[in-house]
Amino acid sequence: MGYSKKIYDEADKVMQDRRNRALKSADNRKERFFKKYPEAQELERQLSYTMTNLIRAMLGNKNGLNEAMQKLKAENMATQMRLKQIYARAGITQKALEPHFVCEKCKDKGNIDGKVCDCYKQLVKEIAYNQLNELSPLKLSSFETFSLHYYSDVIKNEKRVSEREQMRLYLEKCKSYVDTFGSDSKSMIMRGDTGLGKTHLSLAIANELIKKGFGVIYCSAPDILSQLEKEQFGKGYNKSEESVEDALKECDLLILDDIGSEFSTTFTKNKIYNLINYRLSCNRPTIISTNFTFKELEQTYSQRLISRIIGEYIVLNFVGHDIRQMKRKEKMNK
Ligand SMILES: Nc1ncnc2c1ncn2[C@@H]1O[C@H](COP(=O)(O)OP(=O)(O)OP(=O)(O)O)[C@@H](O)[C@H]1O
Ligand SMILES: [Mg+2]
Ligand SMILES: [Zn+2]
Repeated sequence: MGYSKKIYDEADKVMQDRRNRALKSADNRKERFFKKYPEAQELERQLSYTMTNLIRAMLGNKNGLNEAMQKLKAENMATQMRLKQIYARAGITQKALEPHFVCEKCKDKGNIDGKVCDCYKQLVKEIAYNQLNELSPLKLSSFETFSLHYYSDVIKNEKRVSEREQMRLYLEKCKSYVDTFGSDSKSMIMRGDTGLGKTHLSLAIANELIKKGFGVIYCSAPDILSQLEKEQFGKGYNKSEESVEDALKECDLLILDDIGSEFSTTFTKNKIYNLINYRLSCNRPTIISTNFTFKELEQTYSQRLISRIIGEYIVLNFVGHDIRQMKRKEKMNK
């Protein structure tokens, strides 16, 4: 997956820090150990000296081990044995003094024999997600802070259930969506007027899934579209670095908040269409929220796309009165 240079630079920095920290802490441990067991330090010095001589001798002689080398090797073994005895006396293993890397496979270098290590790929992914999620008020919205008392418990004549009951069902649905989330999860559309809790609930889902380790990207449609537009038409755009768009296509869950509120152009319509359609085709779940009715969505995007959404998405029609306003009033009355 391609990301921008900025993300790779950040990843390189994190790897470098990890490695430096591991090496430094090993140095400190060794220093403390040598202070207590100076003879160990002397033995280590001998070991590295005989080792260097042995390697030098081996490189200069292609006819196998000669007598002098055999002697060096024996000396080396003996020194190692004595070192081991000191470790045993101190109650530690040699490993305890070696650097402890986050990734033992690549020793926090990010690559093994020139091949990119999995830990580096994972790190790049995390940085990309964090950058995209930086602007969202993720922390503030949770299932716990979602209260049902803002929705009326009166059953209106033409309805079977109260708004509160309907929203209770939606809340439960969102919770079980999180509990059972996986690659075969369905997509979901949250539709309704302003201030009814669509963003709140979609962020609550994002929060829980991120905690579970899924790659979730939350973004508001107007923000992400203008970012994509900049990336596409901006100076220095490099086709091989389709960073944001790739992340949007590939993440485990994409939350596209507030579609329909973007400034509508052929570019934005095509992007939304392609993104939603692409993810539907590869069975990757998406959560969309919008103030638009299905009719308005059809008029803005394509009829074919909206009928696919109606057919394949879980549809939540939010009800109630503007909670943003209710909360403002509550604050004023305090
Ligand atoms: N059930 C709820 N309990 C507590 N707070 C809520 C609830 N629903 C919404 N809120 C709060 O009210 C404000 C508006 O909610 P939110 O942003 O989720 O609305 P929305 O449906 O996304 O509106 P819009 O269509 O304008 O984007 C937020 O601060 C949110 O945290
Ligand atoms: Mg919203
Ligand atoms: Zn690694």
